[in-house]
Amino acid sequence: MGLYRFALIGCGRISKNHIAAAVFNREIMELAAVCDTVKERAEQKAEDYFKETGTRPAVYTDYKEMLEKEEIDCCSVAAESGYHAKIALYCISKGKNVLVEKPMALSTKDAEKMISEAKSKKVALGVCHQNRFNPPVWQLHNAVLDGRFGKIVNGTARILWNRTMPYYRQAPWRGTWAQDGGTLMNQCIHDIDLLQWNLGGRPDTVMAMTGNYLRDIEAEDFGAVVIRFKNGAIGIVEGSACVYPKNLEETLSIFGETGTAVIGGLAVNRIQTWNFKDSAPQDEEVKKLSGNDPKDVYGSGHNALYRNFILSARAGRAPLVSGEEGIKGMKIILAAYKSQKTGMPVKYDGLEFSSTDMSPSDVKVR
Ligand SMILES: NC(=O)c1ccc[n+]([C@@H]2O[C@H](COP(=O)([O-])OP(=O)(O)OC[C@H]3O[C@@H](n4cnc5c(N)ncnc54)[C@H](O)[C@@H]3O)[C@@H](O)[C@H]2O)c1
Repeated sequence: MGLYRFALIGCGRISKNHIAAAVFNREIMELAAVCDTVKERAEQKAEDYFKETGTRPAVYTDYKEMLEKEEIDCCSVAAESGYHAKIALYCISKGKNVLVEKPMALSTKDAEKMISEAKSKKVALGVCHQNRFNPPVWQLHNAVLDGRFGKIVNGTARILWNRTMPYYRQAPWRGTWAQDGGTLMNQCIHDIDLLQWNLGGRPDTVMAMTGNYLRDIEAEDFGAVVIRFKNGAIGIVEGSACVYPKNLEETLSIFGETGTAVIGGLAVNRIQTWNFKDSAPQDEEVKKLSGNDPKDVYGSGHNALYRNFILSARAGRAPLVSGEEGIKGMKIILAAYKSQKTGMPVKYDGLEFSSTDMSPSDVKVR
């Protein structure tokens, strides 16, 4: 079987993780083309990939032209969040598999359309929730699947980070309702995805209070969310971009009748507590996972995420983080936004909401 041919659309801040994943997986994939509306950014990524592999991707500033000219199996979409749906739907319409950065879209309608169009075109759709591949997270999820927690009562996702105004000013789309959303949608979505994944994956009701406290952006810079799942478990989210003076932690905790696990560190990468009534062979492995934080909060999960995507697509299986999985965290956050706007609990099923339904006055606390 030949190499799986990728094109990267969007060569900004997160693109280095996509390049690293392409290099890491080079025996099964090739980065055939890179595209950014700012040509120099695409050229830089082509150069970065060339230095590592000796193969130079073609450079484009227009993804439609790129798809006309290049033989591509999969498009990775890493442009601004507000463009994900439009670009992904175009790629899907051309019969391409799509791996899209989080959040997969900013409205329930767009995300549902991406899922249904991918299904009807018989292409794979994956979402970049790379933290699912962190080894401690993987161990925790196995413990959930093995029933080691007994009856699960609750879980918490605490994302206590710092995003300063220079970060927001780096790119004008950040913190806007049209292109990004606030800290829940941008920074906290990974841990919210992990929370829902480990609490059964079937949210029922969402209640939230959010606000814009310190950052000069349209959307929230702090949010508190409570999620009741259909199995009765309750998830609690504490998400902040305002922690002084720097990132403190991203932690996932799961509490059950016969087990407690806490994975923390800067980016949910270190086992902090691992207490179970039973003992299991994997506990020895787990003890080794209380080491260092990754170099940055993005971690290195893209490597495994790409590999899982390619191997799944080739075998005709859905990837671990499919569109159907990726929509869940996004939809919980949109429900939280609606709850903040209306002051009411919001049912997850049947939710129709978009970040563009929000306005700065909905989160104003100053
Ligand atoms: N998985 C993660 O941990 C993670 C981390 C950071 C960012 N992200 C996500 O990745 C996306 C990009 O974030 P970023 O911080 O890299 O943003 P960025 O602003 O640094 O980069 C976005 C790039 O997309 C380009 N672009 C815009 N429209 C385009 C188009 N039509 N065709 C080609 N290129 C286009 C822009 O010119 C820019 O270079 C966002 O959705 C963000 O939420 C994910």
